[in-house]
Amino acid sequence: MKEVIIESKLIVYENLEQLPEDIIMLMEKAFKARENAYAPYSKFHVGAAILLDNGEVITGNNQENASYPSGLCAERTAIYYAGSQYPDAKINKIAISAGSTSKINTEPIPPCGACRQAIAEYEIKQKESIEIYFMGEKGNVIKSHSLANLLPLVFDKTVL
Ligand code: THU
Repeated sequence: MKEVIIESKLIVYENLEQLPEDIIMLMEKAFKARENAYAPYSKFHVGAAILLDNGEVITGNNQENASYPSGLCAERTAIYYAGSQYPDAKINKIAISAGSTSKINTEPIPPCGACRQAIAEYEIKQKESIEIYFMGEKGNVIKSHSLANLLPLVFDKTVL
């Protein structure tokens, strides 16, 4: 028997202005994408903006459905679009912002487990880390220098 300790390093910024200009701009695109979320059931709006190595920025938001499980999160809406349109591009950074219509979210909202798994696939495929930045509508921003930090013990192709 042995004990395994898994550690993750995250950086917490007190506000968006503490981040470099390119990240502020990417997060602003996530804010903008959040405005177009279709979330009549949860009323929880999420926007994601992905910066590719070819300079393109892909945005997405959550798309809900009366048949609840048929909906899709913002991150996967964006990343699958990126993968389908730019299969050879690498994903450099992802900015995510989430907020509900009933209150202003000031705490960082991390991507859900399914989205972490989806992002992990691309990080493994491209063999380069994807920087993830996430926040509520305002307030603290968390940076993870790679998706792997957010999903230890990832299920990947090596086990297939
Ligand atoms: N949602 C996202 O878009 N991303 C996440 O990482 C977590 C949850 C969406 C799904 C659903 O439309 C709403 O937020 C409430 O769960």
